[in-house]
Amino acid sequence: MATDRREAPDPPLFESNEPSPPLAEIREGIARAKARLGDRVVILAHHYQGDDVIESADFVGDSLKLSHQAAHRSAAGYIVFCGVRFMAETAEVLSSPDQTVFLPNPAAGCPLADMAGLQQVRLCWEALRSLWDDGIAPVTYINSSAELKAFCGRNGGTVCTSSNAGTVMRWAFEAGRRVLFFPDEHLGRNTGVSLGLPTKAICVWDPEKEALLGDYDQARLILWNGFCPVHGNFSPRHVEMARKRYPGVRVIVHPECPHEVVRSADDAGSTEHIIECIHSSEPGSRWAVGTDIRLVRRLARQQPEKEVFSLAESVPPCLNMGKIKPLSLLRTLEGLLEGEAVARVRVRPETAKWARVALERMLAITRTRR
Ligand code: 13P
Ligand code: SF4
Repeated sequence: MATDRREAPDPPLFESNEPSPPLAEIREGIARAKARLGDRVVILAHHYQGDDVIESADFVGDSLKLSHQAAHRSAAGYIVFCGVRFMAETAEVLSSPDQTVFLPNPAAGCPLADMAGLQQVRLCWEALRSLWDDGIAPVTYINSSAELKAFCGRNGGTVCTSSNAGTVMRWAFEAGRRVLFFPDEHLGRNTGVSLGLPTKAICVWDPEKEALLGDYDQARLILWNGFCPVHGNFSPRHVEMARKRYPGVRVIVHPECPHEVVRSADDAGSTEHIIECIHSSEPGSRWAVGTDIRLVRRLARQQPEKEVFSLAESVPPCLNMGKIKPLSLLRTLEGLLEGEAVARVRVRPETAKWARVALERMLAITRTRR
């Protein structure tokens, strides 16, 4: 249970004691290892990975796309996940029993996911149940531990990603339930507001004070007060400055940004949505983008006929996504060739069973609704 809300200091990297060979040599090593492993391995990478990792990936996507990939579209026995721990755990939970999942740097976590611990959520759940009995659906953002996903599975709830948060919340509301949403307050609020919830219907649970803030008589949506240290850094002032400096600019942000930022932007959506919008825009268009700067710079390089830049250059990239390096990927692949389970991700079977219930429910909701 971690409650430190700052980005933790960078722990020693997986390969920290090893002097790094030149990148060209690492690249060759990765290509050779991939060729030897053939279709026994699939490399998945999140959009926030660096180009030097993305270039070795078989599939690149946002959390939802990569969950689908792990659940249904990979026959490979080894899934190497270049992302952060909760993503690799999700792949482990959704993959079949004869597949194993690897995270090339075990120190790649997500501070947002760490802002809600199982004991804290249980305590909140008991407090809410004493108010409303069983009319509450627990919904966890995919950026959370497998234990929290299992908690949702056990208690009739589910998971969402930034691509399907609205669809999932509607599923609960239409069944007449309130929603307890954790750990990202901003995504929860942005989604609730986009579904038309009035401000007074949104309350916040403060896990430190163990208290519900707001008018709980009116509450339909109860938010955990976690946030992403990257997206939480964007502010309405950045939007204002971009509009002043770049006439005609369109501002697009990730829904993990604070509500005031989303409200003043032209559009908000998951990384996949952002990519689609920019790719389908006309040449000459200008975009200020509020998400991980590695992705923004890649989009700018891929589309020189458009002006694509970060909404705030001062917001640093996700430290944890950056912990996966080409060398750690190479060591993981070499481990597979030598039959060593280097950096294997494991989820306890009972936890995996219930986390799968919650995740499969999410995939079913997404399949059957829009
Ligand atoms: P996506 O669901 O858009 O991939 O976002 C994941 C994430 O961690 C964003 O910070
Ligand atoms: Fe977690 Fe934020 Fe990094 Fe996404 S960008 S992995 S939410 S810390």
